[in-house]
Amino acid sequence: MSSHPDLRVDGERLWARLAALGEIGAVHGANGERGNARLALSDADRDGRDLVVGWMRDLGLAIEIDAVGNVVGTRPGSDPAAAPVMVGSHIDTVRTGGWFDGNLGVLGGLEVVETLAQHDIVTRHPISVAFFTNEEGARFQPDMLGSLVYVGGMGLEDALDVRAADDGARLGDELARIGYAGSTPCPTAVAPHAYVELHIEQGPVLEDEGITIGAVTGVQGISWTELTISGQSAHAGTTPMRLRRDPGYVAAAINTGVRAIATQMGGTQVATVGRCEFHPNLVNVVPATVTMTVDLRNTDEMLLQQAESVFGALCEQLAAEEGVTIERRTLARFEPVEFDASMVDLVEATARRLGHSTMRMPSGAGHDAQMLARVCPTSMVFVPSVNGLSHNIAEYTSPADITAGADVLLQVVLAAANG
Ligand code: GLV
Ligand code: MN
Ligand code: MN
Repeated sequence: MSSHPDLRVDGERLWARLAALGEIGAVHGANGERGNARLALSDADRDGRDLVVGWMRDLGLAIEIDAVGNVVGTRPGSDPAAAPVMVGSHIDTVRTGGWFDGNLGVLGGLEVVETLAQHDIVTRHPISVAFFTNEEGARFQPDMLGSLVYVGGMGLEDALDVRAADDGARLGDELARIGYAGSTPCPTAVAPHAYVELHIEQGPVLEDEGITIGAVTGVQGISWTELTISGQSAHAGTTPMRLRRDPGYVAAAINTGVRAIATQMGGTQVATVGRCEFHPNLVNVVPATVTMTVDLRNTDEMLLQQAESVFGALCEQLAAEEGVTIERRTLARFEPVEFDASMVDLVEATARRLGHSTMRMPSGAGHDAQMLARVCPTSMVFVPSVNGLSHNIAEYTSPADITAGADVLLQVVLAAANG
């Protein structure tokens, strides 16, 4: 148990910060939804970063910006030799993002620090609040890029050379443009003592089970592939069906094919075509090329490999049948991650002690925590997503659940930082 078992966060202050950050890159839906578009290293991302860094400064944190743009603000502990307990997440969003995905982990971290400061509580370990560059992977691939480089899983130069999917901009140039190419070396020289990430679930399970806190046991494996299908562009009226080499048809067959792979495998296997672009994209032209993406995930590495292999065979079969070529490029590939058992226990026991219903669950979404788990004991705290929605401007979590999650984060941090 922590040394201040009755300490609680100020939920209204946390909510106010979520709302203020939500104003940056705000997207308003027709039915009153309030979402965010802060793609990584865009002007909106810069403005969001500036706001959060300002809050870190107001809280007296020592701020470091590293060479891939990760930002870490640290509150000192009483033991100068102790490594920090780190909390955090990301503040970039997908183009149709919400207020909570990522932002909650970062602003929840600031709320923890502010609560401790307000009560003059000094922990033994320092406490760091981090936000990592390009978690979403919507603009630059792979996803979780900043935390991946932070733990030494990807070379810094390779990361800086990644090109944006939308405008081809180089990640390193975009970092410099928005003023976040920092000087702290990356990967980090000091592994955190522990890492805890508060996040919305982004799926329907907690709401469906009527449970407030998820103690996250790990993250499922992720496999992202970009396909470029090339055929013969031709006149839509004059070219008989039997003489076509149509990449549009093949794209459709791949879309239905990966759905069939997931439904036939069952279990946790999921499959998604999230992007598909026809060229030249005209009503009366058989397309010349189609580029599309396939996202496959499974909690079991062997099953994920099985899905990848059936998907590969499907591509080869369709290419041969239709006379097109299919180029496959891996955009991201991460194996499933299991979190440290004692950290998961700590989250679960803390949630119980605070009187919240709780369950253990794996994460369906990717998170910076899965990268930090490579270098330190790690876990996550999940709170429910209304209607299970995320990566959608209708994403919402109630203020009561946000406060419950932040209270659990506070008490887990206190226990870890004094242990
Ligand atoms: C990252 O947020 C992902 O799970 O796609
Ligand atoms: Mn996230
Ligand atoms: Mn996300």
